[in-house]
This record gives sequence, C-alpha cells and structure tokens, in this order.
Amino acid sequence: MDSFSTVIRTASHEQHTEAETSTFMSDLLGGRLGVDAYARYTEQLWFVYEALEAGAGRLAADPVAGPFVRPELFRLGALERDLEHLRGPGWRSTLSALPATRVYADRVRECAEEWPGGYVAHHYTRYLGDLSGGQIIRDRAERTWGFARKGDGVRFYVFEGISNPAEFKRGYRERLDALAADELERQRVVAECRDAFALNTAVFRALGAEYPLTA
Ligand code: HEM
Repeated sequence: MDSFSTVIRTASHEQHTEAETSTFMSDLLGGRLGVDAYARYTEQLWFVYEALEAGAGRLAADPVAGPFVRPELFRLGALERDLEHLRGPGWRSTLSALPATRVYADRVRECAEEWPGGYVAHHYTRYLGDLSGGQIIRDRAERTWGFARKGDGVRFYVFEGISNPAEFKRGYRERLDALAADELERQRVVAECRDAFALNTAVFRALGAEYPLTA
C-alpha cells in the first residue's frame, strides 16, 4: 500500500498541473505582467497565511496537526516585509482580499478552529508547495522585476530557518505518513487537499480577470 505522503501527492497531481499552468501563473512567470500584479498576488497570500498562522499556536499541542506546526515555516512576517517593499509603509491601508481569497482564507480558518485534519491538508498544500515550486517563482520574480536575490519582495519564498529544504521535505513526508488519523479520516484529508488546490486555482482565476493581457 502506498504511504500517505504518496497518496496525497498523487491525488493532487492533476490539480497541481492545473494551478501551475493557470493563465495568471503562466503570464506572471512568463514575465508578461507588471510588478503590480505580483504585489496583488502577494497581498492575497497575506490573507491565506494570516489564517494559517493565527491558529498555529493553539494547534501546536494538537495530536493531529501539532507535528506539522513549525515556526521556521511561518511566512506572515516575511510577507509583511515584502508588502512594505512592494506597496510602501502604508500597505495595510490599501490591502484587500479578492472574494475568492476571502472564501479560501475563511475555509482555512474554519479548519484551524474546528478540524485539525483539514488544517493539515491546507498546511501541506501551501508550505510544501512554497518549499518546492516557490523557489522557481522566486527566481523568476527576481529576474522579472529586479528584486535583490532573496531580498525584499521575495522574502516569502526564502525560508531562513530551513537550510536543507530537501531534507525538511523528507521529514515532512514522514510526519504525513505517521498522521494520527484512521483510513476514513485520511481520505477526508485528501479530499480537503483537493479542495485546497481548487481554492488556489480560484484565486488565480480572479487575479487573471483583474490582470488580463492587453496584447
Ligand atoms: C507556477 C507555479 C508552480 C510551480 C512551478 C510548481 C512547481 C513545483 C515543483 C517543481 C514541485 C516539486 C515536486 C517534487 O518535490 O518533486 C512542487 C511541489 C509541490 N507543489 Fe508546486 N508548483 C507551482 C504551484 C503550486 C501551487 C499553486 C500549489 C498549491 C497551492 C503547489 C503545491 C505544491 C505541493 C503541495 C507540492 C509538494 C508535492 C509533494 O511532494 O507532496 N504548487 N511544485
């Protein structure tokens, strides 16, 4: 039987491709959009990570979600530095969530408050992705908009406290395999992971509508 980390990865593979090849992501990474689109996307991430990390302290003691809560993953501080760089010191006053982002963040918060297994699904979908493909996004962003390497604007993608991401991901997959949940609950977690990908794709779709290519 496949390990749970393999099951969750395989189950979300198709949606991963869909998210990765969404029009907005392709345009953004293809260098076809301005830095404003990147800033708007970064703002949306702020709402998602605020929801993920606001409840993390309490979940650290939870038998299901606790093993995943690691301070070296926290992204909110990095996002705030990036936004200050991208939008200026008044970034908070102009920050706004797209309706699709609101739906996504609300679901994350609901899981954080009521369902640790669901929280793990959202945790996996974001942080393991950031540790993987996030590095490709950082590289493109640095080249396209001229941010300093691993500096302000792309700090979200830089995990200062994780010196070996490949090793960290291995450990993370081991924790997934050891998830304190029976088979039925594991299936529910996989379903939530699929939903998490769909919520991401919906945000990309909304961003794509806000930043259509004129050419
Ligand atoms: C253009 C955008 C993206 C690129 C280029 C990209 C690329 C990658 C790459 C190269 C990996 C490494 C696979 C491995 O470890 O062998 C990965 C893994 C992953 N990505 Fe993405 N990705 C993108 C967008 C996303 C999005 C939007 C999400 C979800 C929000 C996501 C979630 C994940 C997850 C959860 C993994 C870990 C899979 C696993 O090993 O279990 N990615 N991605």
